[in-house]
Amino acid sequence: MERAQRQRLIALARGAGLLPALDAIRYFRSTRQNAAANRKFLAEHQEFAPPPLRWMYDMYAGTSFSQYWGMGMQTAAVIAGKIDAHVEAGAPRVADWGCGLARVIRHLPERYRRTGFDYNLHAINWCKEEIEGVEFYHNNLMPPLPAAAASFDALYALSVFTHLSEAAHDAWIGEIERVLAPGGVFLGAFHMVPPAGQLLPDEQSRFEAGQLVVRGGVKEGSRTYTAHHPEPYLREKLLVNFDIIEPPIDLFAQTLFVARKR
Ligand SMILES: C[S@@+](CC[C@H](N)C(=O)[O-])C[C@H]1O[C@@H](n2cnc3c(N)ncnc32)[C@H](O)[C@@H]1O
Repeated sequence: MERAQRQRLIALARGAGLLPALDAIRYFRSTRQNAAANRKFLAEHQEFAPPPLRWMYDMYAGTSFSQYWGMGMQTAAVIAGKIDAHVEAGAPRVADWGCGLARVIRHLPERYRRTGFDYNLHAINWCKEEIEGVEFYHNNLMPPLPAAAASFDALYALSVFTHLSEAAHDAWIGEIERVLAPGGVFLGAFHMVPPAGQLLPDEQSRFEAGQLVVRGGVKEGSRTYTAHHPEPYLREKLLVNFDIIEPPIDLFAQTLFVARKR
């Protein structure tokens, strides 16, 4: 099925409240498809505590342990490279807001003082039990974070704004400013370059007019609640109080911005 046609069907399913049921079917298919490879991965990585498949699917639209591990490690290498390039502290205080099942933060250098936040209490409880060397805290859909002002040298949010409403964007960017130290670095991954056919015609027009495009109809913050970010929206609105300190790069189908708090 071509992408535009698929998107029209998804919009109909969303409008009819059927997305969660369709997603449940895709979850079962994913667990079946990955079962043998996951058993092999566990046999080869005896020290690996498997994250709960249900929440893996909820966050990553997939249930492959090797992808969770491998892509997490690759992403962490990119994030650590940016932090080391832009933060002077030898043991920087680093926060992962929307850390999910610690896919990325578990691979960051141990010399960092690492903190993960997420609004999914199941994920945070799993992280607290299974991941060493990182502090984890639950937060609500809207701010604040349970953290003092200026507590972090760097904070990253990978595919988190991509699942929030415009009101939540406004609230969270202010909260990120609050918890970053003066000159602190924010790294955010956004849906800035939708593939051809991804947006419906009215969404495309709003996107081209520089407006945030949000698809709701499901629980805010969940994977199927999506936001697409035109570049002018990011530069002139969301990140207006930050200096963008290097050209944005592709990061696994999203766009990573690196910005410094003024
Ligand atoms: C697509 S997943 C990405 C997870 C993680 N950043 C990664 O790259 O592996 C989105 C994550 O954002 C979390 N999330 C959504 N809204 C949030 C909010 N308001 N505060 C904290 N976490 C949130 C979800 O629970 C989920 O873990």
